[in-house]
Amino acid sequence: IPVDPFDLVVFGATGDLAKRKILPGLFHRFTVGQMPEDARVIGAARSDMDNTAFQALVRQSLLEFVPNADDLTAELDLFLSKLSYVCVDAKGTKGWDNLVSELRPDTIRAFYLSVTPSLFGAIAANMNAHGIATKDSRIVVEKPFGHDLASAKALNSELRRNFEESQIYRIDHYLGKETVQNLMALRFANSLWEPLWNSTHIDHVQITVAESLGVEGRGEYYDKSGAMRDMVQNHLMQLLCLTAMEPPSRLTPNAVRDEKVKVIEALEPVEQSDIVRGQYRGRDGEGSYRDHAGDPESLTESFVAMKVKVGNWRWSGTPFYLRTGKKLRARTSEIAVVFRDPPHMIFPALEGRRGNALIIRLQPDEGITLRTTIKEPGPGGMRLAEVSLDMTFAEALGADAEAQDAYERLIMDVIRGDQTLFMRGDEVEAAWAWADPIISGWEESRLAPARYDPGSSGPEDALMLMHREGRRWREIEV
Ligand code: BG6
Repeated sequence: IPVDPFDLVVFGATGDLAKRKILPGLFHRFTVGQMPEDARVIGAARSDMDNTAFQALVRQSLLEFVPNADDLTAELDLFLSKLSYVCVDAKGTKGWDNLVSELRPDTIRAFYLSVTPSLFGAIAANMNAHGIATKDSRIVVEKPFGHDLASAKALNSELRRNFEESQIYRIDHYLGKETVQNLMALRFANSLWEPLWNSTHIDHVQITVAESLGVEGRGEYYDKSGAMRDMVQNHLMQLLCLTAMEPPSRLTPNAVRDEKVKVIEALEPVEQSDIVRGQYRGRDGEGSYRDHAGDPESLTESFVAMKVKVGNWRWSGTPFYLRTGKKLRARTSEIAVVFRDPPHMIFPALEGRRGNALIIRLQPDEGITLRTTIKEPGPGGMRLAEVSLDMTFAEALGADAEAQDAYERLIMDVIRGDQTLFMRGDEVEAAWAWADPIISGWEESRLAPARYDPGSSGPEDALMLMHREGRRWREIEV
């Protein structure tokens, strides 16, 4: 179903995110008929160029980043005809009047700030000064949303000086992923799990977001950030919230976000002894983290694992173990909910038994697995075996030819005016309030992260984090 007609202004239209995600995402929505005939995309950036040059640039990126763009020449031409370009100076006055004349009255306006956060305030102020932002205009901002609580608060107040919270869409692209949303369906559309979804029945939860790539090419940004700021404070926090939150009373943006904020506020301070930081080594001519970061003495972590406690009635006594890192064995993300053992076992012990678990695979092979214990078939007495009930969504529901990238789903939600999958200001601030003391503890101690081999599961100490409590991480499977 097409969304309503819109004018989408992309600030930073010549940048990397626009080329890789925003414009390819819009093109895909266009090819499946969700972008209406009279939608317009207006690129805005500092470089001086005309519409034709901008369209040529976008054509190039689409050919590079959209797998079958070569075969879609007619669609490509039509899509490009909806694009125009305005050269604007974010901090000055140049170009703003031209942008005003590009926008149509009575059409939904969305402004995507795909620029460095230090420009958010200036752009928002300029938009207001030029009367561009109507009462129901939407403004979209990307991560990083601040690098600590103080900077996140400052960004929030800069945006709120010119926009209402209901107009601000803070992107965490993990919320646009199909399986992440499926987590809500799995929990709240089934009656099966809810009675078990608490510390009486769940021993612990493991959340893993493993990546096989390093930080090549992004070293400069990443070294100021590290895994904690780059992944944990936002993406893993969202996964934690969706797993731990109470059922919202309805599927409205604020009902969902209220519940997520409560989880973050219930997080207990994390002991340094419950955290393991790591940094990847180099191997076979491949650079180490420090080579990629361009700092031979960098103390930034490219891996972090930690035990987190949600201090509320539901979760007291059930730790959440979080783990994320670069240059690991494989690119795989999952949430494993591990259940407690039966209180009394009448069967002979099964060596290596891991017990019941619900594993929600987020990527690459989206689906769920339920690990159960059964009798091993055949004679030989009552011997137990563990088997998995396995469902891959693509197989169960048919390969989805129209699968959406997280960004395109989120952009369409912006146009629809649905904030459910976007972070509210207080949510981001609460996540920083939790992360800040952890990060400042590291900055004060200046301890070097443990080294780990590329292609491994991270530092040995991360295994110990669970072993010492009689638990173990699931393998990062290739
Ligand atoms: C980004 C981080 O937000 O998420 C990257 O800045 C990371 O460092 C990426 O690689 C992971 O996203 P995905 O969708 O590939 O899991």
